[in-house]
Amino acid sequence: MLHSQLESCLRECVQDLLPDADLSQVILLPCRDTRFGDYQTSSLIALAKQRKLNPRQLASSVLEKLSLERLHIKAELAGPGFINFHILPQAITENIAAACQSETPFVRRAKVSQSVVLDFSSPNIAKPMHVGHIRSTVLGSCLARLHRLIGNNVISDNHIGDWGTQFGKLLLGWKNHLDKVALEKDPIGEMERLYKLVNAATEADETVLEEARAELVKLQSGDPENFGIWQQMVRLSQSQFDTLYSRLGVAFDYTLGESFYNDRLKGVVDDLVAKGIARESEGAYVVFFDDKPELAPHPAIVQKRDGAFNYASTDLATLEYRTQNWKPDQILYITDGRQQLHFKQIFTTFNRWKGNTHVKLVHVWFGTILGNDGKPFKTRSGEVIKLADLLNEAEERALSVVSEKNPDLPEETRRNIARVVGIGAVKYADLLPSRQSDYQFSWDKMLAFNGNTAPYLLYAYARIRSIFRKNQDEFSSSFKPESIEDKDLIFSTPQELSLAKHLFSFGITLEQVAEDSRPNILCNYLYDLAGLFASFYENCPVLKAIDSEKTSRLVLCHLTAKVLQMGLHTLGLETLEEM
Ligand code: ARG
Repeated sequence: MLHSQLESCLRECVQDLLPDADLSQVILLPCRDTRFGDYQTSSLIALAKQRKLNPRQLASSVLEKLSLERLHIKAELAGPGFINFHILPQAITENIAAACQSETPFVRRAKVSQSVVLDFSSPNIAKPMHVGHIRSTVLGSCLARLHRLIGNNVISDNHIGDWGTQFGKLLLGWKNHLDKVALEKDPIGEMERLYKLVNAATEADETVLEEARAELVKLQSGDPENFGIWQQMVRLSQSQFDTLYSRLGVAFDYTLGESFYNDRLKGVVDDLVAKGIARESEGAYVVFFDDKPELAPHPAIVQKRDGAFNYASTDLATLEYRTQNWKPDQILYITDGRQQLHFKQIFTTFNRWKGNTHVKLVHVWFGTILGNDGKPFKTRSGEVIKLADLLNEAEERALSVVSEKNPDLPEETRRNIARVVGIGAVKYADLLPSRQSDYQFSWDKMLAFNGNTAPYLLYAYARIRSIFRKNQDEFSSSFKPESIEDKDLIFSTPQELSLAKHLFSFGITLEQVAEDSRPNILCNYLYDLAGLFASFYENCPVLKAIDSEKTSRLVLCHLTAKVLQMGLHTLGLETLEEM
């Protein structure tokens, strides 16, 4: 990979000159303005300043030492101590030819793979998955695919909410008001109805609340009847979740819900108390953060006054289990921004508790999906929107767009295109905004064929694939990327060069996405790629060109399609060969 080779050369030089320098500070980035060059480093300025050296002097000593002939790169000193690098034509043909041999062109696999645990989706039993869970599911599964692609070892775990006080009310409802026919049709819908019914009853009548509490106590003490009903609730909910996961193309390595940690909770709290991390306060056990101004006003309860454990104690037990059993380098928690305080409390408590672990804990939080009115996205009657309904509507709307464009395609083909486009559009619209900002949900915007949308990118991919079909049909020539060598290639127009260079940046883009869990960077990269391809295709005839010009252009088509496909798959979109 050109970028990483160049970065290593640069680091070697810096090491020779400044043996004690932290090489991870030496960074090479693609130039924002390509008039100055293709890559640039500003790291020498910072390094010089730390050492009270003259930055320009340091940069010029590095420049003298750098030997880049082998890489076919030209370097020059700029401004107060930047070095700009220009990729020469020979580097382009060599790297493009090498990419033709690769299953995953331009992707740089981690030298030392990291173990990354991803905690995402995590819906709650007996409650429908809502649009809030879609962001966690879409973002989390995208990050899982991304880390796998760059060579990390990924463990995905669905931390289902399958335990807690709500089961008292649910059990009471199940025993007294269950509608078996409704349960058969839509289990989660029926359980939700039961919960709401009993919940309303408890508000009107204290004794109902007592009854619900009694059911909960029976469940917690292992009463066979209540335990059996609980298991049934879990099983029914899980099977509805699984239907959604299969529509979304999402899978988990583990589904260890909250209940899995039940018998560890007491041990966790006892240990926290023994180590002086939690203490008794008004009958509850609490962790105080007096030394942290930000958290000081928010002590974390780990065991309530009535003896019950909670979300916090469960997350601490989960964290202990994951670090002991999976020994991860990183754990990413993907939930909405409202849980920020919770995770700050958990991470701080855990670090005090297990001071010596090296695991990096990150709360990858996201904003809210808003409706047209700028308020959290709801149905007309003010109910939360269910994920299943949302996906149905996406497919229906995409079907009418597709049918309008291609009325002659057979119904089954149109439906499949609509499924890929509709679900892809929902996912893409969710990944495109910076994750921490709220975004407005708009069917028209996400289903548009122009602009930065899923249909636009899916279409760009399908269009490139059609070039190869045409090459086959009209020119009876087949294209074999594996047999390409650099001497077969020639790139001379500015459009070819810009497209090739953008392809080279795929690897570093993936790394940038991984670094801060921001798939929007990948969306924008792919959108730019499709744009560069469009202007290349407009200016450079492909099938009508001859000899090495034709080969070279077909290679660019092939690699663009491949990168688009890898990128879209990483985002969780399926691709279509024809649209
Ligand atoms: N079940 C929770 C919810 O729906 C999300 C759980 C997130 N993961 C965790 N380890 N706390 O809000």
